[in-house]
Amino acid sequence: MEAPTKNARLVKWVEKMAALAKPDQVVWADGSQEQYDELSQLMVDSGTYIRLNPELRPNSYLARSHPSDVGRVENRTFICSNSKGDAGPTNNWYDPAEMRAILNEKFDGSMKGRTMYVIPFSMGPIGSPISKIGIEITDSPYVVTNMMLMTRVGNEVLASLGEDGDFIPCMHSVGAPLEPGQADVPWPCEANIDDKYIVHFPETYEIWSYGSGYGGNALLGKKCLALRIASVMARDEGWLAEHMLIMGLESPEGEKTYLGAAFPSACGKTNLAMLLPPKGFEGWKVSTVGDDIAWIKKGPDGELRAINPESGFFGVAPGTNYATNPIAMDTIKKDVIYTNVALTDDGDIWWEGMTKEKPAHLIDWKGNDWTPESETPAAHPNGRFTAPAANCPTIDPAWEDPAGVAIDGFVFGGRMSKDMPLVYQSFNWSHGVYLAATMGSEATAAAIGVSAMRRDPMAMLPFCGYNMADYFSHWLNVGRRVSKPPRMFRVNWFRKDEEGKFIWPGFGENMRVLKWIVDRVHGRGNAVESPIGWMPQHEDIHWDGLDFPAETFYELMSVERDAGTAEAHAHEEQFDMFFDRLPKEFIFERELLRSRVWRSPEHWELAHEH
Ligand code: GTP
Ligand code: SPV
Ligand code: MN
Repeated sequence: MEAPTKNARLVKWVEKMAALAKPDQVVWADGSQEQYDELSQLMVDSGTYIRLNPELRPNSYLARSHPSDVGRVENRTFICSNSKGDAGPTNNWYDPAEMRAILNEKFDGSMKGRTMYVIPFSMGPIGSPISKIGIEITDSPYVVTNMMLMTRVGNEVLASLGEDGDFIPCMHSVGAPLEPGQADVPWPCEANIDDKYIVHFPETYEIWSYGSGYGGNALLGKKCLALRIASVMARDEGWLAEHMLIMGLESPEGEKTYLGAAFPSACGKTNLAMLLPPKGFEGWKVSTVGDDIAWIKKGPDGELRAINPESGFFGVAPGTNYATNPIAMDTIKKDVIYTNVALTDDGDIWWEGMTKEKPAHLIDWKGNDWTPESETPAAHPNGRFTAPAANCPTIDPAWEDPAGVAIDGFVFGGRMSKDMPLVYQSFNWSHGVYLAATMGSEATAAAIGVSAMRRDPMAMLPFCGYNMADYFSHWLNVGRRVSKPPRMFRVNWFRKDEEGKFIWPGFGENMRVLKWIVDRVHGRGNAVESPIGWMPQHEDIHWDGLDFPAETFYELMSVERDAGTAEAHAHEEQFDMFFDRLPKEFIFERELLRSRVWRSPEHWELAHEH
């Protein structure tokens, strides 16, 4: 197929990659519905896709991955900067020359017997000054169709690129060449985890991914480009690329507030971005700009403006239902690609938590018969839906505004079963950056091989393309350069009682915490000073429609002196690895925290204040 572009660098790169990977043919993605339907049909015929019942789930498909290929592989994700110090202590660094030698060997003939697709895509509205163009080459039609939902794909992107425009090259192969006559499998991939490579060259803005067809490993516009490479570009160009949802909150009086909120993988970004206000919040409107990634730049008036670089949602399916996230349920009624969820007997999908009653019979994510007596889950815990953002009923009217939306506050939250309060506000910007940098979270199913609690600064631990200490300094600098730095908050929906049950009802009820945040952002709303930041008292939260005893609230908000001291001590350990690159501010913040906590009563309780 002749290249539909006159961009010489692009044509040359595609020729070079084809010569390396040796596919049977080259096909360019044009972004049309016809091509989407054609590729989907191809996958139905090959067994990669199951077409769902068109009456129950119109224009939707189910894919089941190879059981070894179910999530991001952090220990096979590499940052290949020239110097190891530039990747920093939290990234897997690999010598770029050695890595290029490995990749050349892996990709040599890796597409034999397959079609090589070339996907021109834009992260962000086409032509926006904040947007970036990438070209993904892949041998997976599943990746092509997912990219068509998650990004803006096709000829318009090529037109915008022009003859000498710049793009980020993203080379991907599932790593399963076919010998002549060899039958294909529904989910080709490299099953050996040690032969998977998710590689970034930050100095040349380049991505190479080998061996996996799943999510962030393979949809290279997402974590690889929009976070790891973009974080480096953002450092170089003075902006922020963050693992954040963007949401709008409109009060009954018509005041609109936008928040950016960072939570680690599978910790509730999609849920919060699509929040439905609960009883007692009549007249409030919550709208969705994005659920996973935010690109944030200083606007013309010195404020921070954010865009969602994606155009779809790649959301965690298990746990999603009409009680926890009705807006997501409505978003995924049609035009969806489901991956690793269960199939019902009438050709619809199901997952753990979708309905109270479990269906009597299902085909599980591995393709086996399943009944409620089965000992394994019907859907994989990291099973996902890919849905176009335009199908979200609460999508914000400005979600495609090339100028972005003005951010008033940043929220940071991990999954912490104890010691971390429901909500508090930082004293100022640098204290806020410190709070975000010391955020911890307990493991989820979104990444393979990650266990227990770990520090996940800004929810960016797996996604920062350079030295995390330099990233902290960059954050501190951004706050100094804007006219009105957004207010900063820590939240925790996940505190548990002695029986291991969540104390906070969460989901829609999180609106109560957000309203306090909105009030604080606009200089209203009461708070008291605690050793760790500004905190609401029970009467500062809007409780209409929910009976939530003050006693339980203070249980959620309590900070024990011993736990606080241990936490401050743990920050020291976290920081040790950054040596001299750690910003000085963090040393002072830690000492201030230590002395505030140390001087506080043994059991610091808000209720004693009045
Ligand atoms: P990625 O797409 O992996 O980046 O993650 P995400 O942050 O978008 O994850 P998502 O919103 O899909 O999180 C799903 C998980 O968070 C499910 O296990 C939900 O049950 C849980 N969750 C979300 N909100 C809440 C909440 O308010 N309270 C509790 N207890 N759990 C929540
Ligand atoms: C995450 O793990 O944070 C995701 C899913 O958003 S993936 O795209 O697979 O990285
Ligand atoms: Mn994510």
